[in-house]
Amino acid sequence: MKANDKKSVRLPNHISPVHYSLSIKPDLESFTFSGSEKIKIKILKGSNEITLHSKDLDIETAKYKSDKLEVFADKISYDIKKETATFHFKNKIKKGNGELSIIFSGVISESLRGFYRSKYTFDGKDKFIATTQFEATDARRAFPCFDEPAHKAVFELSLIIKNEHTAISNTLPINIREHESGYKIVSFSPSPKMSTYLLAFIVGEFEYIEGYAKKNSTSVNKFSGPWMREDEGPDHENSFTDSEFTKIRVYTTPGKTHQAKFALDVAIRSLDFYNDYFAIPYPLPTLDLIALPDFESGAMENWGAVTFRETALLVDEENSSLSNKQWVALVIAHELAHQWFGNLVTMHWWTDLWLNEGFASYIEYLAIDKIFPNWKIWNHFLTLDHNIALSLDSLNNSHPIEIEVHHPNEINEIFDKISYSKGASIIRMLALYLGENDFRDGLRYYLKKHSYKNTKTINLWEAFEKVSGKKVKKMMNSWTKQTGYPLVEMKKSGLGATLCQERFYSSRKQKDKNKTFWQIPISYSYTKNEKENVDQIFLEKKSLKINNKPEKLNKDETSFIRVKYDKETLDNIKKEITGGRMSVIDRLGIIRDTFALAESGHIKASEAMELSLVYKNEDEFIVWSEIASGINKIKNIISKEKFSSKYNKYILSLFSPLARQMGFEKKLGEDHSAIFLRNLAISMAGSYGDKDVINKSKKIFSNKILKPIEADIRGAIYGVIASNGGAKEWKEFERMYKKENMHEEKDRIGRAMMMLRNQKEIKNNLSFIMTKNIRNQDFPHMLAILWQNVYARDDIWKFIKKNCKYILKNYGEGGHFLSRVLPSLVNHTDLKTLKDAKKFFKKNSAPGAERTLEQAYERIVSNAAWIRDDKKIIKNWLEKNY
Ligand code: BES
Ligand code: ZN
Repeated sequence: MKANDKKSVRLPNHISPVHYSLSIKPDLESFTFSGSEKIKIKILKGSNEITLHSKDLDIETAKYKSDKLEVFADKISYDIKKETATFHFKNKIKKGNGELSIIFSGVISESLRGFYRSKYTFDGKDKFIATTQFEATDARRAFPCFDEPAHKAVFELSLIIKNEHTAISNTLPINIREHESGYKIVSFSPSPKMSTYLLAFIVGEFEYIEGYAKKNSTSVNKFSGPWMREDEGPDHENSFTDSEFTKIRVYTTPGKTHQAKFALDVAIRSLDFYNDYFAIPYPLPTLDLIALPDFESGAMENWGAVTFRETALLVDEENSSLSNKQWVALVIAHELAHQWFGNLVTMHWWTDLWLNEGFASYIEYLAIDKIFPNWKIWNHFLTLDHNIALSLDSLNNSHPIEIEVHHPNEINEIFDKISYSKGASIIRMLALYLGENDFRDGLRYYLKKHSYKNTKTINLWEAFEKVSGKKVKKMMNSWTKQTGYPLVEMKKSGLGATLCQERFYSSRKQKDKNKTFWQIPISYSYTKNEKENVDQIFLEKKSLKINNKPEKLNKDETSFIRVKYDKETLDNIKKEITGGRMSVIDRLGIIRDTFALAESGHIKASEAMELSLVYKNEDEFIVWSEIASGINKIKNIISKEKFSSKYNKYILSLFSPLARQMGFEKKLGEDHSAIFLRNLAISMAGSYGDKDVINKSKKIFSNKILKPIEADIRGAIYGVIASNGGAKEWKEFERMYKKENMHEEKDRIGRAMMMLRNQKEIKNNLSFIMTKNIRNQDFPHMLAILWQNVYARDDIWKFIKKNCKYILKNYGEGGHFLSRVLPSLVNHTDLKTLKDAKKFFKKNSAPGAERTLEQAYERIVSNAAWIRDDKKIIKNWLEKNY
C-alpha cells in the first residue's frame, strides 16, 4: 500500500457512534456466528452514504432511521484494503441524530483475532470456547463498527448461547431468558463509555473462584494482611453492587481453578492499590480475569473482562517457578493498571499507544513492589525492560516513541519494546525526577480531567507541569519525539569533570552522532569530606562542566542513558565493586554499558571481558544475568571460530564456581534473587560444558518420576539435558510435551527441546513444530527459540525460506508473527545470509515487520563488523588468560 493510501485508512470524522445494542449468536459446531446491531449515531454533515469498519463479515442488510426517515441501504460496498463497508442510500442522510440497524454474520476463526475459537480437551473430549481479541483493530471482524479509539460509545450486548455455556463480557448479565430449545439469551448491563477495542465476550464452559476488593480501601495494613481474602466480601451476594466492593473472579476451563488462587490474590491487592493510588475507584461492580487455552499475546485489558493466555494467569504451587509467578503478578498488575490508564482515559489515536503501554509497563512494578516488597521488583525492571529498551533503541532503525501510524499493519508493529520498555523507562526517569508525590498527583489530575475521554501525550505532560511547576514538556519531548538516547561521556577536568552527550549507536558505522541532544537529568555520587553524596545536574546541551568528581554517573541507573568513563574513574569503580561498596543496580549498569561499548566499538571486547572478571564475587541475580547476556553476545559472534572452545573456558571460570556455590537445592532463608540465580548458574555452567553440573542434572532428570524436579530449577535442568542430549532425550521431551496439560510446563519442555544440537534432532524439531501438537499461539515462540540455537541457525533459515508462504498463511496474516520471529534473524553474523535475506524479503513482503527486518539487517552488519575488528583481540586475550 502506498503512503497516501495508508493515510486514508481513517474513517471520515463527521459521523460518530454514541451507543451500540449488539446481539451475537455463536455456533460452536459450525464455527460461525450471526449478529444484529443498532448503532445510535451523530451526523455532523449530510451525505448519501455511511462508512464504518467491517472485515471478513457478510452484511445482509443495513437500515438508517431518524425522526423523519427510515431507509434501507440499496447498495453495500466493501473496501478490502481499508477494512470498511459503505452503505449507500437513495435519500440524503441529514445532519442530526439517527440509528443504524445492521444484520450480519461471520466466521469464528482460528486466527486468534476478532471473534475466534480456542480448543482444549477435558475428560478426553474436545471442547471449544469462542472468545474475542479486538485490540488494536479487530473489533471490525466481529461486528460492523467505528473501530477507532476516539469513537467511544456505550455497548449493550446480548449473547444467544447454549444452555450449558457460560457467557462473560465487560459487565454483568442483567437478564437471562430462554430462547428456542436449548438456547438462552444473556443480556449484559450497559458498558461504560469506551473504545471498541475494549469490548469482549467469551462463551464456553468455565469454572471460577472469586474474592472482593474494597472500592475505597482505607485500611492501612492492606498489603501485609493474610493472603487470601476470598471470605472478606460483603455479607450478602446481592449487596455488592452498592459500590463498596468489586467482585473479582478468576475463570479457567474446567478442572483448573486450583491454579487460579495466586491470580485472585494479586488481582485483589492490585485493585486495592490502584483504587488508592489513582484516587478514582474502579467503576464496575465486577472484574473478571479469564485464562484462555489459545491467546495471541500475554493478556488483554478488556474493561472488566481481562483475558490471558494460561501461562500469564495460572500458577500451580507444585509446578510453577518463582519466575513464572513473578511474570503472572506483573501481567495482572499491568492489565489492571490499564483499567484506568487506557480504559478510563484512552489515547486519541495509536500514535500515542505508548501512553497506554509504556505507562502500564512502568506502574505494574510500582504495584508489585507494594504487594511483594521482598521481591525487590525494581531490580528486575532493569533486566526485563530497561536494558532491552537500551539495546533496541541503539539501532539506527529504531523509532521515536511517538510515531505516526495509519494502517493496521503499522499499528501492530508499534506494540514493541520501544512503546513498552523504553516508554516505561522514560516514565521511571520522569517519576524519579518529579518525586513520588508530584508524580502521583499529576496522574490523579490527568485521570480525573480526562475520564471517559481521549488524550495525546502532551496532555500528560501538561498535568505534570501543573502539579510540579517543572518544565516537563520540554524535557520529555526530547525523549518521546526523538529516536535513540545519549551516551554520556565523562572526562575528568581539574578538580571536576566534563560531561558530554552524543547519540549512542550499537553498530560501528559512523553516523551523525551530534544531531540530537536530550534533556537529561543525571544524578551522580561523589565523595566529600569522606562521605558519599548524591547530586543531580541537568545536561541540556552538548556538554557541561561540573565541579565535583563523580564516582558513579547515573546513580541507580535512573536515566535512560549509557555512560563512558575515563580510565581513572573506571579503575576506581573496579575497586568499589571488588570492595563491595557499589549498589546492585550500579554494578549492573557498569557491566551492561561496558559490554555495549564493546559492541559499538568504543572499547575493545577484551576490556569488557576483563571487567567481567572483577565480578567473581557477585551475588545478585540481576547483575549475573547482565554478565551472562554480554558474554552470550560475544559467544554468538565467535561461535564458528576455532577459539570458541577457549571462550567456553572463560565462561566456566565465572559460572562454574557460581553453580557450585548455589548448588541444586534451595537453602533456608534464601531470598528472591538467589532462586533466580541458581537457575541461571546451572543453565550457564551446564550448557557450556561443566561436567559436574551436567552429571548432576542428568541424575536429577532421570530420577524425576520418583522425585519431581523442583519447579524453580526445572527449566535449567531441562536446558542442560537438551544442550548435552541426543536422540533419546529428544524422544523423552517429545513424549513429555505431548502429554503435558499445564501450559507453563509445556513451554519449558518445548523450549528445551528446541535447544538440542544434533542435526537429526534439529530436523525432528523442524517437523515437530509444524504438527498440530504445537498450538498456533506457541508456534512463533518455538520457531524463534529454535532459530536462536547456534547449531540450528542455518537450517532454520533454509526452512523459513522454503515454508514462508505456508507459515504466513497459517500463522502470520496480520498478526504479530513476523515481528516476533524475525528478530531471531539477528543471530546471523555473516554477510552472505544478510544478502540472501534481503533478496528474499524483497520478493516476499513481510507485512507489519518491515522495521523489524531493517533492525535485523542492521544488527547482522554490526555483528560482522564486530568480529572483523575484535576477532584477534578476543583470541589473544583468551590465549593469555585461559
Ligand atoms: N494491550 C495489550 C495487549 C495487546 C498486545 C493487544 C498486543 C494487541 C497487541 C496488553 O495490555 C499487554 O500489554 N499485554 C502484554 C503483557 C504485558 C504484561 C507486557 C503482552 O501481551 O505481551
Ligand atoms: Zn498493556
